[in-house]
Amino acid sequence: MNEAQAAERLAFLAAEIARHNRLYHGEDSPEISDADYDALVRENAALEAEFPQLVRADSPSKLVGAAPAAHLAKVPHAKAMLSLDNAFSEEDVRDFVGRVRRFLNLAEDEPVALTAEPKIDGLSCSLRYEGGRLVLAATRGDGAVGEDVTANVLTIADIPAHLRSSRAKSRGAGAEIDERPSTTLGTSEFRDAGDTFEIRGEVYMSKDDFAALNARLAGERVFANPRNAAAGSLRQKDPKVTAARPLRFLAHGWGETSELPAQSQYAVMRAIESWGLPVSEQLVRVESVDDALAHYRKIEAMRADLPFDIDGVVYKVDRLDWQARLGQVAKAPRWAIAHKFPAERAQTTLLAIDIQVGRTGKLTPVARLEPVTVGGVVVTNATLHNADEIARLGVRPGDRVTLQRAGDVIPQILENLTPDEERPDFVFPSSCPECGSDAVREEGEVDIRCTGGLICPAQRVERLRHFVSRGAMDIEGLGAKQIDDFFHDGLVRSPADIFRLTEEQLVARKKDGRVWAANLLRAIEDKRTPDPVRFLFGIGIRHVGTVTARDLMRHFGTVERLAEVATAAGADPAAFEQLTHVEGVGPVVAQALADFFAEAHNREAWDDLLSVVSPRPFEVQERASEVTGKTVVFTGTLETMSRDEAKAQALALGAKVAGSVSAKTDLVVAGPGAGSKLKKAEELGVRVVDEAGWAAIVAKAS
Ligand code: IVH
Repeated sequence: MNEAQAAERLAFLAAEIARHNRLYHGEDSPEISDADYDALVRENAALEAEFPQLVRADSPSKLVGAAPAAHLAKVPHAKAMLSLDNAFSEEDVRDFVGRVRRFLNLAEDEPVALTAEPKIDGLSCSLRYEGGRLVLAATRGDGAVGEDVTANVLTIADIPAHLRSSRAKSRGAGAEIDERPSTTLGTSEFRDAGDTFEIRGEVYMSKDDFAALNARLAGERVFANPRNAAAGSLRQKDPKVTAARPLRFLAHGWGETSELPAQSQYAVMRAIESWGLPVSEQLVRVESVDDALAHYRKIEAMRADLPFDIDGVVYKVDRLDWQARLGQVAKAPRWAIAHKFPAERAQTTLLAIDIQVGRTGKLTPVARLEPVTVGGVVVTNATLHNADEIARLGVRPGDRVTLQRAGDVIPQILENLTPDEERPDFVFPSSCPECGSDAVREEGEVDIRCTGGLICPAQRVERLRHFVSRGAMDIEGLGAKQIDDFFHDGLVRSPADIFRLTEEQLVARKKDGRVWAANLLRAIEDKRTPDPVRFLFGIGIRHVGTVTARDLMRHFGTVERLAEVATAAGADPAAFEQLTHVEGVGPVVAQALADFFAEAHNREAWDDLLSVVSPRPFEVQERASEVTGKTVVFTGTLETMSRDEAKAQALALGAKVAGSVSAKTDLVVAGPGAGSKLKKAEELGVRVVDEAGWAAIVAKAS
């Protein structure tokens, strides 16, 4: 792969991984398996290693998790919420302990005590107690900034609003627990939580509660699994909804603390328990890897009988002074690792293969299955990806198949158990099941696509859904369901129609029609001069994700100018070449743009749309903030973002970024390892904040 191809691939990967992050974290509806996701991330990392000069400012390698949801207030974490590295075998776990030993330079016979506990399949949450009172609960978000879910969390019975004073308790449970001989400096009595103590753990839903909730929601949107149900229930605008959902909590660690009640992981967890928070019954301290692995096997054996989903066992170095020395790499601590269980499998019968038509006309085969339980979840559908996958598996309706569900995504068919039985092969349709247009496979592509374009109702609806979606035009109150209804009733057939909706058309559609119509029309009106990047992304041109849309707009300035060049690119090689000069755009994207504008339907829809909306010219958006117009210096290591990202944030807030500290400097952001610049700032009396302080400034900007 040459550099240009690598750059294009990296642009694609950035957009694609961001999209999957959004689906997974933002919308709780992942499209691909964890393994496929990991493969994208690994490919990205490998390419970046080979072409370090191509690492993008928006590279997925710089992110910990997902962007926060729009409706909940954003809150910076005082200490970043990290993720965990994975081990998939006993050998990986032994390697982990080996790395710990080497890093700490330990003598061979020095034991490394570990804690071991289940890895709960929920979503992590940080509970901040000040003076023993819960003052803030936040989801992990992207690790640096999460969402404020305090009101929702207060409805969870496992989570106390006030910490229990530990003194009374410590003589009971505390003394009992500390009878264990400890080489790791355990305390004999737990102390209180002090001024500030952030307890971190997992919000989850039990398997039974999940099944009951889905039964209750039947007909409405049901959740794919307990994790999604927990996430969907916690991240609600209205705490009353959360209150009606049976959420639970298990503590597994801590964030910012003013003091620690003990000096080992195990003892601090026991202290947290003594303050009234649940800690896993399966949390143990072990003195060797062999004991840790024995505990893993024990937990694995009881997995099916546990009331909640778990996907592995987490080991942590017990001594906190060692944890501090080990520190972290990129986004995960060196002192902990998740030992994952193998993916779960089951057998069932393939009942039918349905073909779904997506936004870009891609025909996706979906396996309809006889319902079967895999890892506590009833599965009725599996993805078959494409025609090649059907051929590879040789599956036909009626076959017995092995199904695998890894994590919480759409299950996959692994194997056909009856390939030799007499039954005709499945014939992939050569025409679109929705509109009858030819379905063709382009050269070098695995996908088969409907050629109907905007004639195809399935594509039209999918495109409309995409146009109004959160990442695109984000029209409040206009979701997928609404679009389906409007489309089928003939009210909205193209994006432009949305901007022609009238009060009269809307009012009659609902019981409280007047208020609803007024709100919807206002939300639509709000988007009449849309952000050009969202607009372009919303158009849904193949290969043009948010990142590419931004690159294109940065280059061309206005959507009109882009359309002009892309239209010319169909016939004029110079115009085509101009497209490929845009940073992040290669021949594939350029061709997709030229193709889009060469298509008469598309051109019509585009012109029609631009007759009712006026996308703004591209501008580097400056948000008002306390650093607008000020000079900022970054020094030391930043843990949750790269220097480039931090600088980009500063520039977006209208600040100047300088390389050295002087009397003109207004703010110094200092990470670990900051040296002379920090010293100079202190001498000059310049304000200094750490990374969390910076995140708070960014989060506060309007
Ligand atoms: S420790 C600094 N312990 O897994 C280490 N995490 O893949 C932070 N999780 O974001 C995590 N059970 O939400 C830890 N017993 C456990 C856990 C656990 C589930 C989640 C947690 C974390 C994710 C990392």
